[in-house]
Amino acid sequence: MTKVLKMPSGSRQAGPGDVESSFDIERVRDDFPILHRKIRGRELVYLDNAATSQKPKVVIEAITRYYERDNANIHRGVHYLSERATAEFEAARKTVQSFLHARRPEEIIFVRGATEAINLVAQSYGRAHVSAGDEVLITALEHHSNIVPWQLLCDEKGAHLRVAPINDHGELILEEFGRLLGPRTKLVAVSHVSNALGTVNPVFTIAKMAHTRNIPVLVDGAQAVPRLPVDVQELDCDFYASSGHKAYGPTGIGVLYGKSALLETMPPYQAGGDMISSVTFEKTTYNKVPHKFEAGTPDMAGAVGLKAALEYLTHLGMDNIAAHEAELLAYATGAISMIPGIRVIGDAQEKAGVLSFVMQGVHPHDIGTILDQEGIAIRTGHHCAQPVMERFGVEATARASFGLYNTKQEIDALVRGMQTVKEVFA
Ligand SMILES: Cc1ncc(COP(=O)(O)O)c(C=O)c1O
Repeated sequence: MTKVLKMPSGSRQAGPGDVESSFDIERVRDDFPILHRKIRGRELVYLDNAATSQKPKVVIEAITRYYERDNANIHRGVHYLSERATAEFEAARKTVQSFLHARRPEEIIFVRGATEAINLVAQSYGRAHVSAGDEVLITALEHHSNIVPWQLLCDEKGAHLRVAPINDHGELILEEFGRLLGPRTKLVAVSHVSNALGTVNPVFTIAKMAHTRNIPVLVDGAQAVPRLPVDVQELDCDFYASSGHKAYGPTGIGVLYGKSALLETMPPYQAGGDMISSVTFEKTTYNKVPHKFEAGTPDMAGAVGLKAALEYLTHLGMDNIAAHEAELLAYATGAISMIPGIRVIGDAQEKAGVLSFVMQGVHPHDIGTILDQEGIAIRTGHHCAQPVMERFGVEATARASFGLYNTKQEIDALVRGMQTVKEVFA
C-alpha cells in the first residue's frame, strides 16, 4: 500500500474510503470553470492531470486582464505600458522564486516548459562541461524529455549515458545509483516525481551523493511542482525544471531554476534580442543572468498567468494539496486493485498522485475509449516513458493522475467505468 505523504499538521491519517480535504473541495471545484462542463452528456471526471492540469478562474482572469490592460513588449520600452508589463513579468519571477524557495530572483529563468529547461541545461552547461568519454547519469524512471536531450549531447560529444536501474516497485535502486557515480560523471539528471508511475525520487539524498563527488544535479520537477512542496535550497539541487501548465498555470511557460554560481558561468542557449548587452559585427557581449538565457520576446501573459497559479496554490497550501492527493491515491489504489484482472504498475513506498495500471486481456487504449464514453478522461499509452514500460514488460498502461480538485466520488466513477470495461471484454 502506498505511503501517505506529508499530512498537514493537525490532520488525521485517512484510510481508503475516507477522503477528506483540509480545503473546501466544492469551493475549489467552483474555481475551475471547465469542471462544470458536460462531456457526452456526463459530468466531466478529469483524471489526466499529469498530462496537463485545468486552470482556475484567477489564472484565466489574470491573462485576460494582462491583455486587456497591460500588454506591451517588456524590458525595452520607456512608455507606460512597457514599464507596466516589465514590472508584471519581473513580479512573476519573484513569485516563482518564493514558491520554489530559490535564493534570488535571478536564479529563475522563464522558458517554455520543463522540456526546454532540460534542453537549456544540456546545450549550455552540458556542451561546456561534457567531453568525449565523460558520462551523464540518469535513472530508468525518466520521461523522454529527460533522456533524449542527454542522448543528443552524448552523441555530439562522444560521451556515455548511464542509467541507474529501478526495482519491481518502481523505485530507484540507490546503491546502484551510487555505484554508477564515477570520476567521469559530469552531470546527474533525475525526475522528482515519475509521470508514468508516480514514484517520488529521494532527490535530497541523490543530490548529497552526487555532491560528494562535486557532480551537479538537475531535477526534473514537472510532476512535483503541482503535487509537493518544493524547496530547491533544501533539496540542494543545482537545476530544477518545471512546466506552468502542469501546475494549474498556462501552457507555453515554464521555469528553469539554476544556482547563480553555475548560471553565471554558462554560455547562452539561444541567441537574439534581450540576451545581449551590446552587439557589433565584431563582438557581442551578453546580458546578465537571467536575461542571458531569455532570448527574444518571452511569454509575458504566460508569466502573469503562472504567477496567479502559484499564488492560488500557495493560498490552498502545498502541504494540503499533497495530503489531499495522497488520500485520493490511497483510496484509488485500494479500489482499483480490488477489480480482478487489474495490475497496478508501480507501488513505490513514496508515491504521488499517479496511478498506472493494466487490465488482463484489454489494451489500455480500449480502456481509455470506454471510459471516455462515461466522461472520464485518463491517459493511455507509454506516457513518453517507453523505458519504464519496457522495464515492467508492458507496451502501455492506463494512467489516472489526480489533481487538487479531484474527489473520492470521481474515483468511484473510475472504478465503475473499469467494471464496465471488464463486462465489455468478459
Ligand atoms: C516528468 C516529466 N518531465 C518532463 C515533462 C515535459 O514537460 P513539458 O511537455 O511541459 O515540457 C513531462 C510532461 O509530461 C513530465 O511528466
